[in-house]
Amino acid sequence: MSCKIAIDGPAGSGKTTVAKKLAEKLGYYYLDTGAMYRIVGLYLHSKGITPEDEITLSMLEDIDLKFIEGKFFFLGKEAGDEIRTPDAGKYASLYARHPVVRKYLTSLQKKIAQSGNIVVEGRDIGTVVIPDAEVKIFLEASPEARARRRFEELKAKGLNVEYSEILNEILLRDKQDSERDIAPLKPAEDAFIIDTTNLSVSEVIEKILEVVKIKC
Ligand code: C5P
Repeated sequence: MSCKIAIDGPAGSGKTTVAKKLAEKLGYYYLDTGAMYRIVGLYLHSKGITPEDEITLSMLEDIDLKFIEGKFFFLGKEAGDEIRTPDAGKYASLYARHPVVRKYLTSLQKKIAQSGNIVVEGRDIGTVVIPDAEVKIFLEASPEARARRRFEELKAKGLNVEYSEILNEILLRDKQDSERDIAPLKPAEDAFIIDTTNLSVSEVIEKILEVVKIKC
């Protein structure tokens, strides 16, 4: 039997770092669904299509989004750091409320999640993408702690960013992601909620492994 682990939480809650390391430790596949929303957001924005415009399935198919051996490809090229910028995150969140975008990406994600043992991270994984996941985790942290983490991460990449701007961006994204009509950010009823504000990455992973030991 395969084991599916869903990790959800707001921007900067530590999801990506934790999910990646956890998958490595367990020898599981790893899927970052936020990257898919970032790719779609960047593409639609570059085409001058706004989130209020009609977005069709054929527009999304033109992106040629593929997930091969743990890597994303679109428009025939591997996705790189361009999808990790604050702007890409902003576009992702804006287009993520569009029903056609959600339907398209959710269906791709559901297919990928059937590949076997896998850690999937996002906003609606335990509630919509894999509601039958053996393990559901919801990571939380104060907005200030999350903004601080994002700030350090982007600065380390050499980007010129302001802490206050990042904090505002995080608060705006929390609002957009949790107040949207379809698949809003929220813990599944049976999710284990972990507040990571004062925990290190390895402490969070230890807590998740305790759950995995019981459920998988
Ligand atoms: O996790 P990340 O910051 O890369 O996600 C970018 C944006 O994509 C989120 O703010 C959210 O709006 C959207 N997203 C989503 N559902 C997911 C993953 C990401 O709506 N499963």
